[in-house]
Amino acid sequence: MARILSGIQPTGTTHLGNYLGALRHWVDQQDEFDSFFSIVDLHAITVHQDPKDLREAVTHLAAMLFAVGIDPQRATVFLQSHVPGHAQLAWIMECTASFGELSRMTQFKEKSTKTEFISAGLFNYPALMAADILLYQAERVPVGDDQKQHLELARTLATRFNTRFGEVFTVPEPQIPKVGARIMDLQVPTQKMSKSSSQDSGIIYLLDPPELIKKKISRAVTDSANDLRYVPDDPLRAGLRNLLELGSSLLGASPEEVASRHSSYGALKVALSEIVIEAVTPIQQLYREYTDDRGELLRILGEGAERANAVARATIERAHAALGFLT
Ligand code: AMP
Ligand code: TRP
Repeated sequence: MARILSGIQPTGTTHLGNYLGALRHWVDQQDEFDSFFSIVDLHAITVHQDPKDLREAVTHLAAMLFAVGIDPQRATVFLQSHVPGHAQLAWIMECTASFGELSRMTQFKEKSTKTEFISAGLFNYPALMAADILLYQAERVPVGDDQKQHLELARTLATRFNTRFGEVFTVPEPQIPKVGARIMDLQVPTQKMSKSSSQDSGIIYLLDPPELIKKKISRAVTDSANDLRYVPDDPLRAGLRNLLELGSSLLGASPEEVASRHSSYGALKVALSEIVIEAVTPIQQLYREYTDDRGELLRILGEGAERANAVARATIERAHAALGFLT
């Protein structure tokens, strides 16, 4: 079985964009691939985190990964900080990457303008991400479009290390979801649904109660044409497009087909609310079970860390031997 690895940052609360753009694909892939999914708490501290908030965000995300259907028997789910190999290999990757390469990362350029204190970790972030991937010899990495440049760097670093020191790392392939996997804000439909940029009314959180979901969808921005068709390239109709794509993504039907099933924007919104509520209700139920039993949650994460550590240690040993460290 080919191995995949992906990481997700424990910041904020999981929303429908995270689910449809990432988590649901992870769930679908766990039978097909030897899957490793990491909650990347080391990446989170590249910007300041309040310890209490971080603890909550990690617990929330861990419970959510299992609630959406990732099966700890089939997939290895673990916290990055539970596997020392990430920090160990990150250092080696920092010594493999050049200052120039890291300086060209667009995410660093963006993020560093937003914070007053620019940590050295924020600059080295892509080297840690390369380590996350190479540590497990992952063949494929499911990521969003925004992570393409980081993944390209991981490939460059793997190849460079192998050329200098001998074949140690598998060169990973990106796996980027097809178009349409981008869920937009319900209030500002030209902007990605994202906890960092938007007001809550534009975001559907997986834990939103049914009434709130109905309210958010009924108030979603559309247009005054009242012409229920899928017109993907008209920016004035981005709101309708987003609703149709949301429906399409949840139902597995084309956006055109979703459009043809309804006679008005109002009817579409009512139907969409029902579909979303139907999708999140079982997730919310399972989420409660996992958060009610934190002991069990920690036990499962401990098992994941053990499996991850076994793979990580073998890679570190090989990398150290190749570098000439005495082993
Ligand atoms: P983030 O919380 O932004 O770090 O994203 C976590 C994962 O969810 C990444 O794989 C993103 O690509 C995905 N994601 C975040 N927001 C959206 C969105 N609005 N539509 C689709 N995928 C998203
Ligand atoms: N940087 C990724 C993001 O912000 C998260 C991440 C960290 C990751 N390590 C990874 C993704 C390894 C894939 C593989 O979304």
